[in-house]
Amino acid sequence: MAAKNILITGASSGIGAALARVYAAQGNRLVLWGRNEDSLAATAAVCRARGAAVETSCFDLTDFDRLIQALEATDTEKPLDLVIFNAGLGGSMPRDRVAQNAHAAEKMAGVNFTVPVVGANLMAERMAQRGRGRIVLIGSVAAFFPLPMAPLYSASKAGLVLFAEALRLRLRKSGVGVTMVSPGFVDTPMSRGLKEPRLFLITADAAAAIIARKLERGARHIVIPWQFALICIAAKLIPRPIVRAVLSRY
Ligand SMILES: NC(=O)c1ccc[n+]([C@@H]2O[C@H](COP(=O)([O-])OP(=O)(O)OC[C@H]3O[C@@H](n4cnc5c(N)ncnc54)[C@H](OP(=O)(O)O)[C@@H]3O)[C@@H](O)[C@H]2O)c1
Repeated sequence: MAAKNILITGASSGIGAALARVYAAQGNRLVLWGRNEDSLAATAAVCRARGAAVETSCFDLTDFDRLIQALEATDTEKPLDLVIFNAGLGGSMPRDRVAQNAHAAEKMAGVNFTVPVVGANLMAERMAQRGRGRIVLIGSVAAFFPLPMAPLYSASKAGLVLFAEALRLRLRKSGVGVTMVSPGFVDTPMSRGLKEPRLFLITADAAAAIIARKLERGARHIVIPWQFALICIAAKLIPRPIVRAVLSRY
């Protein structure tokens, strides 16, 4: 594994915690961010037991001054090889309401879109100056469907897909890689709260293992599990009015 100095957001739970465990090897330095101190400490303890040097920090990523300051300080102290913007907020809409509460909507838009975009933008500049590094954005297969049960969630993740594609073009001669990860259903606290059936469900550990393996090969876009990769290809081929007609049943 080439990457040595790794930052993961949302490492206190689910996919982020599983990614931390995958990268917790002797010689690696992990910088793990989350909000819940106990959960983050539990992830850190497992990673230290596996031989990694671990630093943790608990703060709300939508405190943008703190986010920018923390990224700059972490990268200045020891240049980051791999930054995984994983933290996210999910959940589907209650059926008895048309729209999300305004503050919940602001929070979701911030955590799912603005935080990774602001963070990736900052890291792109620093990594390009060094001529190396990889930025990873954890999106969702929800990005490829206009989900009436989660309009803001699917839109926030769709925005990340276009951002990743454009940033990759911008960085094409810089030596810096950009990887978009689009998971289907992964068994974490986030998906356990959903009312919809969790098709092709995989564990967070399985998801993290696939992501790490494909990142090692320099993948640009990782869709997991493979069944959703096929569904996403099909969705691009099916005329949009048919996709809308099917989804409008919700
Ligand atoms: N699970 C799925 O089926 C699934 C499917 C597609 C995409 N994804 C994406 O995968 C990523 C990880 O999700 P998950 O399933 O692992 O969810 P999770 O278990 O709920 O974990 C979410 C993580 O994000 C952190 N987080 C949320 N809001 C934050 C904020 N304002 N500031 C700092 N940290 C914040 C949480 O921190 P605390 O817990 O400490 O508050 C937690 O560590 C998300 O981007 C999600 O959209 C998940």
